[in-house]
Amino acid sequence: MQWAKVLGVGVGAAAFLGLGIILGHLAIPKGADPLVSQDLDLEVLNSVMGQLEASRIQENLRELSREPHLASSARDEALVQLLLQRWRDETSGLDAAETTTYEVLLSFPSQEQPNLVTVVDPNGNVFFSCRQREENLTGEQGGPDVVPPYAAYAPPGTPQGRLVYANRGSEEDFKELWTQGIELNGTIALTRYGGVGRGAKAVNAASYGVAGVLVYTDPADINDGQSLPNETFPHSWGLPPSGVERGSYFEYFGDPLTPYLPATHSSFRLDPASASGFPPIPSQPIGFEDAKVLLCNLQGNLAPDTWQGALGCDYRLGPGFRPDGEFQADSQVNMSVYNRLELRNSSNVLGIIRGAVEPDRYVLYGNHRDSWVHGAVDPSSGTAVLLELSRVLGTLLKKGTWRPRRSIVLASWGAEEFGLIGSTEFTEEFFSKLQERTVAYINVDISVFANASLRVQGTPPVQSVVFSSTKQIPAPGRGGLSIYDNWVQHFNRSSSVYGLVPSLGTLGAGSDYAPFLHFLGITSMDIAYTYDRSKTSARIYPTYHTAFDTFDYVDKFVDPGFSCHRAVAQTAGSVLLRLSDSLFLPLNISDYTETLRAFLQAAEQDLGALLGQHSISLGPLVSAVEKFEEAAAALSQRVLALQESSPDPLQVRMLNDQLMLLERTFLNPRAFPEERYYSHVLWVPRTGSVATFPGLANAYSRARDTAPGSAAWAEVQNQLSIVVAALEGATATLRPVTDL
Ligand SMILES: *[C@@H]1O[C@H](CO)[C@@H](O)[C@H](O)[C@H]1NC(C)=O
Ligand SMILES: *[C@@H]1O[C@H](CO)[C@@H](O)[C@H](O)[C@H]1NC(C)=O
Ligand SMILES: *[C@@H]1O[C@H](CO)[C@@H](O)[C@H](O)[C@H]1NC(C)=O
Ligand SMILES: *[C@@H]1O[C@H](CO)[C@@H](O)[C@H](O)[C@H]1NC(C)=O
Ligand SMILES: *[C@@H]1O[C@H](CO)[C@@H](O)[C@H](O)[C@H]1NC(C)=O
Ligand SMILES: *[C@@H]1O[C@H](CO)[C@@H](O)[C@H](O)[C@H]1NC(C)=O
Ligand SMILES: *[C@@H]1O[C@H](CO)[C@@H](O)[C@H](O)[C@H]1NC(C)=O
Ligand SMILES: *[C@@H]1O[C@H](CO)[C@@H](O)[C@H](O)[C@H]1NC(C)=O
Ligand SMILES: [Zn+2]
Repeated sequence: MQWAKVLGVGVGAAAFLGLGIILGHLAIPKGADPLVSQDLDLEVLNSVMGQLEASRIQENLRELSREPHLASSARDEALVQLLLQRWRDETSGLDAAETTTYEVLLSFPSQEQPNLVTVVDPNGNVFFSCRQREENLTGEQGGPDVVPPYAAYAPPGTPQGRLVYANRGSEEDFKELWTQGIELNGTIALTRYGGVGRGAKAVNAASYGVAGVLVYTDPADINDGQSLPNETFPHSWGLPPSGVERGSYFEYFGDPLTPYLPATHSSFRLDPASASGFPPIPSQPIGFEDAKVLLCNLQGNLAPDTWQGALGCDYRLGPGFRPDGEFQADSQVNMSVYNRLELRNSSNVLGIIRGAVEPDRYVLYGNHRDSWVHGAVDPSSGTAVLLELSRVLGTLLKKGTWRPRRSIVLASWGAEEFGLIGSTEFTEEFFSKLQERTVAYINVDISVFANASLRVQGTPPVQSVVFSSTKQIPAPGRGGLSIYDNWVQHFNRSSSVYGLVPSLGTLGAGSDYAPFLHFLGITSMDIAYTYDRSKTSARIYPTYHTAFDTFDYVDKFVDPGFSCHRAVAQTAGSVLLRLSDSLFLPLNISDYTETLRAFLQAAEQDLGALLGQHSISLGPLVSAVEKFEEAAAALSQRVLALQESSPDPLQVRMLNDQLMLLERTFLNPRAFPEERYYSHVLWVPRTGSVATFPGLANAYSRARDTAPGSAAWAEVQNQLSIVVAALEGATATLRPVTDL
C-alpha cells in the first residue's frame, strides 16, 4: 500500500512541497548575525493588535457567506480562487500561496429524487409529508445551491415502519425502550440531536433492528429556552421551526476510501462497499415543526422526564400513533432516502510567510472553508478573521518592518464538514515533514458562537501563551476588563500551581485540529468566543448547519459591530506572533504535570482498589509521573537560566526542539488498534466518567465485570504499560540532551 504514495504523482503531490523550494531560496546570513537572536517585538505585537479592524472582518464575512459553498461546489472553488488571489496578490505581502487538491468521497442527496419523510395510512395513502426544504424566510433559503437537509453518508433506502421515540439515540436510550418491552424491530426511530454523535444514533438503532432514523433539533436544546420560541430568525436569533441541522454521519474522519494515505488521483482506494464508518441504516434530519407533528401524536408509555423537551406536548415512546390523534392508529412512517456517494476534488489553500531565522520551523494557523449552506458562523466567521489577520501581517511584511523568526503557514481546509477531510489528507501527505517541523497548530473555526467569553481548548503547553496573550487584550463590552479576567469569570478552575485560572478545554474531533493532535502529535488549540454557560445550556448556536446561518444572522444577532470577532482575531493573532517570533518557544511543558497528576489521582481513587484486587499495581505509573515532573521542572530551569544569559543560538534551538517534540513522544500508533488516527496516549477518546488516562479507563471499564485472569484484565495491564512507556519516553526527551 505504501507504493501508492511513493509512486503517486497525483493532484496533490506538487503542492506544499513548494514551501521547500521557497525555503531553499532563503539566504542564510553568514557570520555573526544579529538576526539570530531575533525575539518577539512588543511594538510589532501592539501594532498588529491595533490594526485588526472589525469592519474589515465584517466585509470579509459578507463576501465569504454571500452564497452557499458546500464542499467541492462551484462557489467553494470560487472561494479557493478568492483566497489564492488575496494571498498571491502583489500587495498581500505573503511569500507564496498554493493549493493541495485531493479526490475524496463525499455524499449528496439526489437532485432528481429529493429525500422524503411521510406518514402513510394502512391503505398506503400519504397523510402527511415533512418539508423537503427550509422555509424561504429571508429569500436565501430557496436557491438551487441550498442543499436540501440530509444525513451525509447515510445509505439510500425506503424503510417504513411504526414510529418510536428514542431520545438521543444512545445505547442506554435504546436499552430503555427494550426494557420497557417496546418492539423495535422494523421501526423508525425519532431521535433528537445531542448526547451522542450523529452516526452513533444510527449504529445504536440498527443494533436493535430499527430500520431507519430521524433526527431533529429540540428547541429545549437550543434557542436558550425551555419553550417554543414565538420569535425566531429573522426577528431574533432563534431557530425557525423549519430549520434543519445537516451534518456528516460518518463515524471516522479523513477520506473514507483512503485511510492513512493521501487521496491523490493515483492513490489506492477501498471499494466503497467495504469502507467502514458509514451509518448502517437510512437516516434523515427534520425540523422541529415536523418533529412536533410526529412526536406529539405518538401513543404508548410516557417517556422518562429527562427525555421530555420543548415541543409543547407529553413525549410518548410509541410504537405507533394514538387513535385519537391526527393520524390513523396503524399509520406508519416512510423514509425515502436517495443519498449517493460521489468522488469529488476538494482543495486546501495554503498561504506562506517564510521565517527569517528558523524557516524550517512552522506555526500553522487554519480553518475550513466549506459550509453546509451559507455558513456565516460555521466556518466563515473563522475565515473572516483569518483573512483580516493575513492582511495585517502582510502589510507589515510589505513595509519590510517585520518578518517572523519562524515560518507561518495559513490554511483554508476543504471538505471539513464531511469529516475533517482536507486537513486529514494534508497530514497524511506531509506526515513526516509536518511532524519534524511544526511547532504548533492554531485552529479558529467558528470564531464567535456568542458574545460572553473567550473559550480555548488545547493541550496543556498552550496554556501559558494563551494566558499571556489574553491578559493584554480588552474584552468587548466589559469596560476595560481583559479577555483573561472575563474568561476567569466564565470558565475557571483552581490550579494547584497558579490558583484560580481560566480553564482550558480538551480537544476532541470537532474540527481540523484533530488530525494534527491525534495523528501527528502536534501541540494544538482551538479558539472561539462563546456563551455564558450559567445562562444557557444550549448545545450549539440555534441556526447551526441550517440555511438560516447567514450574514444577517451574525450581523444582527450574534455579534453586531463584530467586536467579538475582532477580540478573537487579536487573541489568535497574539498567540500566533508569540509562537512564531519568540526566541524561546512560549510552551510551558511543566503545565502537563498538573494534568498527569490529576489523571493519576483519579486512577488511584476510582480504579485503585479493584486494580489491587487483580494484582495490578499503579506503582510504575506513580514513579513515571514523578520522573516526568522532575524532568519538566529541570527543563524549565534550564530555559530560565539560558534566558538570563546571552544565549548561544544552538543551545536555544536544542531546548526549543525539546519543547516542540514533547507532544510527539505521547504518540503510540499501535496502542489503540480499534481506533483510526487516534494515537495520542493522553487524549484518545475516553468512555466512562473517570477523568484519568483514557486508554487505562477504557480497558478498565471493559474489564471490571470480567473474571480475574480474563483477556480484558490483561488489556488493562497492557494499557497501563503503554502509558508508563509513553511517560518515560517523554521524560527521556525532556532530559538534558547531553545525558545519553
Ligand atoms: C426565495 O425568496 C426569494 C426572495 O423573495 C425569491 O427571489 C426566490 O424565488 C424564492 N425562492 C423560492 C424557491 O421560493
Ligand atoms: C416508502 O415509500 C417509497 C416511496 O413511495 C416506496 O417506494 C417504498 O416502497 C415505501 N417503503 C415501504 C417499506 O413500503
Ligand atoms: C425483524 O424483522 C425481520 C423482518 O422484518 C425478520 O426477518 C427478523 O426475524 C426480525 N428479527 C427479530 C429479532 O424479531
Ligand atoms: C410572543 O407572542 C405574543 C403574542 O403574539 C406577543 O405578544 C409577544 O410580544 C411575543 N413575545 C416575544 C418575546 O416576542
Ligand atoms: C480531479 O481533478 C483531476 C485533475 O484536474 C481530474 O483529472 C479528475 O478527473 C478530477 N476528479 C474528479 C472526481 O472530478
Ligand atoms: C451580548 O449580546 C446581548 C444581546 O445582544 C447584549 O445584551 C449583551 O450586552 C452583549 N454582551 C456583551 C458582553 O457584549
Ligand atoms: C468561576 O466560574 C464560575 C462559573 O463556572 C463563576 O460562577 C464564578 O464566579 C467564577 N469565579 C470567579 C472568581 O470569577
Ligand atoms: C512553567 O511553569 C512553571 C509553573 O508550573 C514555572 O515554575 C516555570 O518557571 C515555567 N517555565 C518557564 C520556562 O517559564
Ligand atoms: Zn466548522
